[in-house]
This record gives sequence, structure tokens and C-alpha cells, in this order.
Amino acid sequence: MSTAGLTSLELFRVTPKPDRWWDGAAIYQVYPRSFADADGDGVGDLAGIANRLDHLAGSDRSLGVDALWLSPIYPSPLYDFGYDISDYTDIAPEYGTLDDFDALVEACHARDLRLLMDLVPCHTSIEHPWFVEARSSRDNPKRDWYIWADPEHDGGAPSNWEAAFGGSTWEWDEATGQFYLHSFYPEQPDLNWRNPAVAEAMADVMRFWFRRGVDGFRVDAIFAAIKDALLRDNPPDRRPHVIPGIGGEAGQDPLWSMNRPDVHDVIRHLRAVADEFPGRVLVGEAYVPMEELVSYLGNGRGDEFHLAFNFELLRSPWEHRHLTLAIERSEALHPPDVQPTYAISNHDNPRHATRWGSERARAAAFLLLTLRGVAVLYAGEEIGMIDAPERILPDPPFDRAGRDACRTPMQWNAEPGGGFTNGDPWLPLVDHESRNVADQSGDPDSLLHLYRRLIKARHESPALARGHHRSFFDVAPEVLCYLRQADDQRVLCLVNIGDTAADCDLSAVAADAGEVLVATSDRSGRVSLGDLVLGPGEGVALRL
Ligand code: BGC
Repeated sequence: MSTAGLTSLELFRVTPKPDRWWDGAAIYQVYPRSFADADGDGVGDLAGIANRLDHLAGSDRSLGVDALWLSPIYPSPLYDFGYDISDYTDIAPEYGTLDDFDALVEACHARDLRLLMDLVPCHTSIEHPWFVEARSSRDNPKRDWYIWADPEHDGGAPSNWEAAFGGSTWEWDEATGQFYLHSFYPEQPDLNWRNPAVAEAMADVMRFWFRRGVDGFRVDAIFAAIKDALLRDNPPDRRPHVIPGIGGEAGQDPLWSMNRPDVHDVIRHLRAVADEFPGRVLVGEAYVPMEELVSYLGNGRGDEFHLAFNFELLRSPWEHRHLTLAIERSEALHPPDVQPTYAISNHDNPRHATRWGSERARAAAFLLLTLRGVAVLYAGEEIGMIDAPERILPDPPFDRAGRDACRTPMQWNAEPGGGFTNGDPWLPLVDHESRNVADQSGDPDSLLHLYRRLIKARHESPALARGHHRSFFDVAPEVLCYLRQADDQRVLCLVNIGDTAADCDLSAVAADAGEVLVATSDRSGRVSLGDLVLGPGEGVALRL
């Protein structure tokens, strides 16, 4: 490859955008039930989170993340553990009060830590007063806030659509003699986003929290906001399955029930509300193919999401070809002015230390935090937490879709309760005696220290925070290699994803040597590119 272009600064000049604090940010996802329990009931709460903010930002023991994202903390009957909301403008009593929330916002901001909430706009709980009213009679004024349909002439469901967690999307309502639609559990009826009153009510929810100082929202399952108005049947699936759980079993392509073109009107509406408040960010969640995901970012027009989760790494096996493709597709498809948003673990999927193996956790952290984009960490990944083995999980499970394993409590120390609780934890601790924050804090070689170093390097290096990305292929069969460049700073990132040492051929890179900026190993100082051998799983970022 010609390297002449690499020094053409015009091409690589990256203008800092002071109002876009999220560029290059590290966002830390907290699953509130499982982070820290201050009142001893075994369930995490807001006071617990406030007590643990040192772990996140503002102290020399902090990870140094830029924002905290809280999975839902609203009142909920917990059929979907908070993603079924019965009141959008209050705090669930087990988590605290609005005063606790205000105090948390203030405490975060005092540390220069932003706070993002989860917005769940596509469905409510069956216990939400809107739905209670809607199902009370066919002529209730709230009826049209949800999606109702008569049976087919044979009495069957109005369409063949399948719900994300299995079964039909249609639930029969005996009292009013119609079906209502739910894209997820039956206890989560879908709101009717074609009704302007719904759009306005959700705008008011956003304003309520923005006025309390919230810095943005992670917007849940937006691809389900709009369904075909004619309720046409989905065809058989001929594509690879792109949405976990949907269309998987019976092989159905959710063509008419998900990711409809007019979902963009919904997103533009949400964005317009966010734009009423300077500096706020919307991060969309949509399980759609990458080609379509980037359209949720407004194709560079700046009128849809600021960021949208890119789950390609999360779904990729730990294989060179797959990881390379995930990264290159992401780079090729995102508009130049928009950063990809990577997460490799979250509350819906097996943790990556379990999927890819604990021995890959250091290389995975390196990848997540040196790629161009926003990195979303899932609480616990910084100490290498793994999924709970089935034998220690409750039977029957709390989550019917089988996600308890990745939602176990944060492991703060080796004491009984793991520093998470003084009571009985709602889900079991997995291995807090041998894996916890306290132990790793005192060990400079720990994974936790690596996360701190990587995040610090991102903050200190404009190239890592917001530089362009350019890959070099064929450096070694198991090595991913990419150059990050902003203005006059060039950082070459190399990570050996293999289990054996890798001899790197860096003859295509226009430099003889580089200075270690950050590494997964104890490598430091000046490194010659001519004879670089990476250890198994080793990642190195070199300032050229
Ligand atoms: C959330 C899940 C939730 C679903 C329905 C998602 O994508 O992350 O936890 O079950 O939306 O709200």
C-alpha cells in the first residue's frame, strides 16, 4: 500500500468539536440492580451507585470514564427487569427517590462525569396507567396509544409476526375482543408511534429528565417503533439472522414488523427534542444490519441519533477474519463525521470474557479502547467478570429469556456479599473471592489497571480519541493493525489476537520506530518496527 497519503495532513486533519463531548468517550453501563446496594436489601440502588463513583471518575483510583449510563431505574413490575416501565417520570422505590436521583446527577457532574438514562419509547408495561386505560374499553381515549387489531376471519392473529422473545407479537385481550401488539414480552405492549399524542408524551418524558440535568439517553429497541400499517405477513427468512431472537426459530424475516422506513420520523422527533437542550446525546439501540444502522445516524445530516450501537464486534467470534471485517465494515459505512459506538458486553448477551475466553480479556480491552469510536463498557468487564454458570443461577430464572447469567452483582471485594451488599444478593456472586475490584486495584498488572491506562491514553491522545482509522492488512496472520491519526499525531495500534507469538511485517508503515503509548504488556520505551514480535494476546499502541 502506498503510504504517501498518510502524511497528507489535509486528509487527516480532525477538527475538535468542543460541544461533542461524546467523541472518543468511554461510557460505563450500570445495570442498577447489580452495581451497589446501600440499604442491604440485596438489590442495587442509586445511593449505592453514588457511593461508588470514585471507581468511575474523579479520583486517582478511577477508570476515568466520561459518562455513566443507567439501565432503567423507573418503576416497573419487572417482567423485563425495568424495560417494562409503569411510570416514566419517577424512580422505582427499590432504587430510591427523585431526590436521590438529583443528588446522583449532581455528584456525577461534580466529577465531570455525564449521566445517561435509558429511554424505552417503544413499549410500556401492561401496568402503565396509559395501557390500563387503553384496555379498559374500545372507546377509551387512550385506546389508540397502543396497537390493536381484530382477529383474522378464522379467529387467528392479525399477522404472522413473531415477538423477540418467542411466540406471536399478538396477545388476545378477552375483555375488549381484540389483539394488542407486543414486540417483546406480552407484558410490554407496543406504543402506537403513529399517534401524535404518543410522540408528544414521550417528548415530555425526555424534557422532564433533561431539565433534571440528564446528559442524554440510550434509546431502547428503536427499530421496533414502527410496524407496517397494513399488518402484512413477514416472509420466510432468506438472510443471515440479523436480529437475535427475531425470525430465528421459524425462519422469518421481520420485513414488515421491524426497521420500517418511517422509523426515521420517530428518531428525528426524538432528536429535535434533544436539540432543545445543548450538549445532550442520543445513543440508539437497533439490531439491524450495519448498512441500515448508519441510516439511524441521519446519513450525516445530523438530524437523527448522535450515536448508534454497533454490535458487530459483540456478535463476532474471536477470529481474525471476522474481527477485521467487523471493523472495516464499520469504518467504511459510518459517515465521516460520526463515530462508531462499540460494546463487547452488555446486559443482554453473554459477557465477552465468557464468549471469547478470559485469556482474551486484555486484547479485547485494547481493541475496544483503541478503535475509532465511542467505547461502551459493561460494569464488571474491567475486572474480567464472567457469566454465572447455570448451576448457581435461580431456577426458575428471573429473566425468561435467559439473561440472568450476565447480570450478576458487581464484585467489589472478597468479603461475603462481595462489597455489593450486606444482605442476600438478588442474583448470586460468581467468583468475588478471586476476582474483585479491591484486589485488582492493588495490582499494577491487573486488567483493571489496563482499563485505566487505556482510557487515560485515549484522553491524552487526540489520535486515539478522534483520529481517523486506517488498517494495514497482512502484518501477521493473527495481528490486527491500524493507524489512528489526528492532526500531526500518528498512533499505530497492533493487537495479536492469536495464542502464539507473532512476528510482524510493518514494512508498509512509513516509520522505523515508535514510542509505546500504552500496551497490554509491560513493554515501554522505543520500539523498532523492523523486528517487532508481539506476544500472545499482546496489544501495543505506538506513537510514531
Ligand atoms: C434491551 C433489553 C430489553 C428489550 C426490550 C432491549 O434491547 O436492551 O434488555 O429486553 O430491549 O425493551
